Amino acid sequence: MYTWDDIEQHVAACTHCPLSQTRKLPVMGRGSRSADIMLIAEAPGGQEDLEGLPFVGRSGNILDEILDDCSLTRDAIYITNILKCHPPGNRDPKEEEKNACFPYLKYETYLLKPKIIVCLGRVAAQRIISPDFKITRQHGTWICRKDCSLTAVYHPSAILRDPSLLEVTKADFREIIRKRDELLSLKS
Ligand code: URA
Repeated sequence: MYTWDDIEQHVAACTHCPLSQTRKLPVMGRGSRSADIMLIAEAPGGQEDLEGLPFVGRSGNILDEILDDCSLTRDAIYITNILKCHPPGNRDPKEEEKNACFPYLKYETYLLKPKIIVCLGRVAAQRIISPDFKITRQHGTWICRKDCSLTAVYHPSAILRDPSLLEVTKADFREIIRKRDELLSLKS
């Protein structure tokens, strides 16, 4: 079985899809490796590609504002992407790229064993929750799979394009905290 270090080394050296030829740095997930909450987005953006870290660009600032609103910090959660490499021009990930990268996400999820998975945006929700997931109608709804509750919220870059989505996303995150507290109280 792989360890976190194994996955990190595989991601750093990965050549499983053509994005490995255009990326500057691969972007492994970051945060607490014992977090209850795992955030999954679609793919690193341009700034993330330069720094090798998730959500360090403009959408990262929005994400931090949302986390701050519900008193979450980045080191209390785990944030990752379906793709570990930046798709040129910020285009949607291709099916074959998602398939090539998916084992890394599976190992991250297996090692973390999160109580809650939050998909950031349509691409992640359609890959993780359901292929016909409609983010406008279904954000903030929950499903349960094995020992994990899953939900989806608007992607921070969608909020950058349409700032009216900020308040509804903050409300979705407050509900995520409520759900986490409920799940933790059931455990104790
Ligand atoms: N957008 C994403 O989907 N992921 C990042 O890490 C940054 C921007």
